[in-house]
Amino acid sequence: MMSIMKNIFVNCLILIGIIAFAVSCQYKFTVEPVIPPIPPGDTISFSLQIVPMWADAGCADCHKSGGQLPYLTADVAYSSITGAGLVNTGVPAESIIYNFPSPDSDTHTWKKYTASQAALVLQWIEKGAKNN
Ligand code: HEC
Repeated sequence: MMSIMKNIFVNCLILIGIIAFAVSCQYKFTVEPVIPPIPPGDTISFSLQIVPMWADAGCADCHKSGGQLPYLTADVAYSSITGAGLVNTGVPAESIIYNFPSPDSDTHTWKKYTASQAALVLQWIEKGAKNN
């Protein structure tokens, strides 16, 4: 009987130790924004993901017909960026539509993609920059 009690007590101590260790670890690292990788098989839709992101991010406030090129509104975005050579499917990271407003560029300082917006655009280009 006593040894069962002792076992439970020891197990509890071990459990508390594990929890304390796990909790203490959480505060040791600075939190980096983790961008979940998009599974390789997943498609990224230009019309359902990229264009709405440009609208949500406020890009299309300036980049719309009559305003600043490239036009990033749904009706003309694809032809506007591909026609102006802003997409480089050979070297995706050198695409101007990706790197000009990317968070670590020193261009377009008034408005940047967030890290996850930039990752989305890059992965769309890596997947062939389809008008899908
Ligand atoms: C406040 C207005 C404004 C907003 C908002 C804005 N831009 Fe721009 N953008 C400009 C201006 C002005 C230029 C031209 C600047 C230059 O050439 O240095 C430009 C240039 C660019 C270029 C380079 C075009 C080229 O032909 O070289 C890209 C790409 C671009 N913007 C994308 C975006 C994206 C994506 C967003 C949203 C995250 C955005 N812009 C938000 C005003 C804006």
